[in-house]
Amino acid sequence: MLKVDNLHVSYGNIKALKGISFHVEQGELVTLIGSNGAGKTTCLHTISGLQHPLKGTINYFDEDITHLSPYEIVKRGISQSPEGRHIFPSLSVYENLIMGASQRKDKKAVKDDLEYIYSIFPLLRDRSKQTAGTLSGGEQQMLAMGRALMSKPKLLLLDEPSLGLAPIMVEKIFSAIQKVRQEGGTILLVEQNARQALEIADRGYVIETGSIILEGSAAELKTNAEVEKAYLGG
Ligand SMILES: Nc1ncnc2c1ncn2[C@@H]1O[C@H](COP(=O)(O)OP(=O)(O)O)[C@@H](O)[C@H]1O
Ligand SMILES: [Mg+2]
Repeated sequence: MLKVDNLHVSYGNIKALKGISFHVEQGELVTLIGSNGAGKTTCLHTISGLQHPLKGTINYFDEDITHLSPYEIVKRGISQSPEGRHIFPSLSVYENLIMGASQRKDKKAVKDDLEYIYSIFPLLRDRSKQTAGTLSGGEQQMLAMGRALMSKPKLLLLDEPSLGLAPIMVEKIFSAIQKVRQEGGTILLVEQNARQALEIADRGYVIETGSIILEGSAAELKTNAEVEKAYLGG
């Protein structure tokens, strides 16, 4: 479904991605794990068209999308829940969710999808009239994810959904991610929280200073000595 090949991205002299390759198949939950500054966000931004590569290609359903605009990429069904959430603080929860569907033509189906999102995050239904800026960090994360899902994406990109959240909230967010996956969603999950990510993923890649240093099934990575030492505190 998504195939990233030999991607190089720089910010001026800083080489953020040094030729990374990976793929995501339909229905998979793939995680990209790595510490702060490894290049995870850059990778997602490049897929979304917010950043342009010096070299390499991104193929999506056998189409080269490497040089398309963010608008064109969203239109093809790739939606991102950004690091730091970026919800609209002065709008209500409901209004934030509806914003996520703004590019859609099938307005009637939007109502059904709102129900689907409320079923995954019942709390968002209870808070639908509340101003988004007054939600807790974890609730805002749910909203950011819900908003990304409102575009009915074929591929959902999640940038560090667990960042800065209390363990109980992390549990909730991760079980919601699992639910989306179980209902047929395809997800690329970027995380520093390797333990949690490998718990729910099918496969994973470990990224270090702009290169992928390891890849395998989540089960393999969990028991890999290097991963354990560097990312699981083993
Ligand atoms: N806008 C930017 N300008 C310059 N350097 C950047 C910018 N964004 C990220 N970087 C650098 O690129 C590298 C990768 O960053 P990033 O993709 O944000 O990593 P991660 O998401 O894994 O923490 C880091 O060295 C970071 O400092
Ligand atoms: Mg990041």
